[in-house]
Amino acid sequence: MTDFTGLRALVTGGASGIGRATAELLAARGAQVAVLDLDPSGVAKPLTGYAADVTDDTAVRAAVEAAVADLGGLDVLVNNAGIGAQGTVEDNDDAQWHTVLDVNVLGIVRTTRAALPHLRASAHAAIVNTCSIAATAGLPQRALYSASKGAVLSLTLAMAADHVREGVRVNCVNPGTVDTPWVGRLLDAAPDPAAERAALAARQPTGRLVGADEVAGAIAYLASPLSGATTGTALAVDGGMQGLRLRPVAP
Ligand SMILES: NC(=O)c1ccc[n+]([C@@H]2O[C@H](COP(=O)([O-])OP(=O)(O)OC[C@H]3O[C@@H](n4cnc5c(N)ncnc54)[C@H](O)[C@@H]3O)[C@@H](O)[C@H]2O)c1
Repeated sequence: MTDFTGLRALVTGGASGIGRATAELLAARGAQVAVLDLDPSGVAKPLTGYAADVTDDTAVRAAVEAAVADLGGLDVLVNNAGIGAQGTVEDNDDAQWHTVLDVNVLGIVRTTRAALPHLRASAHAAIVNTCSIAATAGLPQRALYSASKGAVLSLTLAMAADHVREGVRVNCVNPGTVDTPWVGRLLDAAPDPAAERAALAARQPTGRLVGADEVAGAIAYLASPLSGATTGTALAVDGGMQGLRLRPVAP
């Protein structure tokens, strides 16, 4: 018997990276877990996959209802699906702004809206949003992505306030650079992938990228009934990047 025994969870973007690690961890700790993703074809038992694009309200509602029917209810929602964008405020056109905000911010709104009636019926309801260090630190070449994650941070706090008296806790995690397929794609696109990886690792005081399993551990911590008094928080999982100021290593 573990803290997630008997609980039912839905993880968006759970077919890859942080979401996949989270879905697998929650299942290993006793939860029944459904994955909502654009492409859930690689999702294997004991997880169950549901195809939906979080920008499509009708598809999201259908996938959430199908998952909840199969799980027999819902206790935990992990709003993790997200996409990136690079550039300064001059570099992304309006269409790109609408797309990224639609996925990263309104995606959370849509899944949460569909899930809330079911979460209210749970004795251990928890929502965890995947935010980013980009919400709290100014990173170069990330204007649009940072704006979207700043919105996720504020939305997390507002949702936590709105639903605390309904017994629904809402928190977020703020990862630094995490070694996922997403970052792999970014590195592959860099002129010198090895140098880019070294630079990203050096930016974090731990000197390495964050593991997807480490973010999953933080999400599970916030989602667990053991964290029943924790709501409206942002948990940094960033190798010390937000909080620490180290002197450069002597040459
Ligand atoms: N990797 C990092 O360094 C990092 C750092 C901070 C925050 N994050 C956040 O973590 C989350 C997951 O990132 P990751 O690195 O695991 O990425 P990833 O690309 O490995 O996985 C993202 C998953 O989301 C799904 N997805 C994307 N758009 C979708 C949509 N419209 N509808 C449904 N599913 C969709 C993809 O199919 C994929 O399975 C994102 O919200 C991202 O912003 C990542």
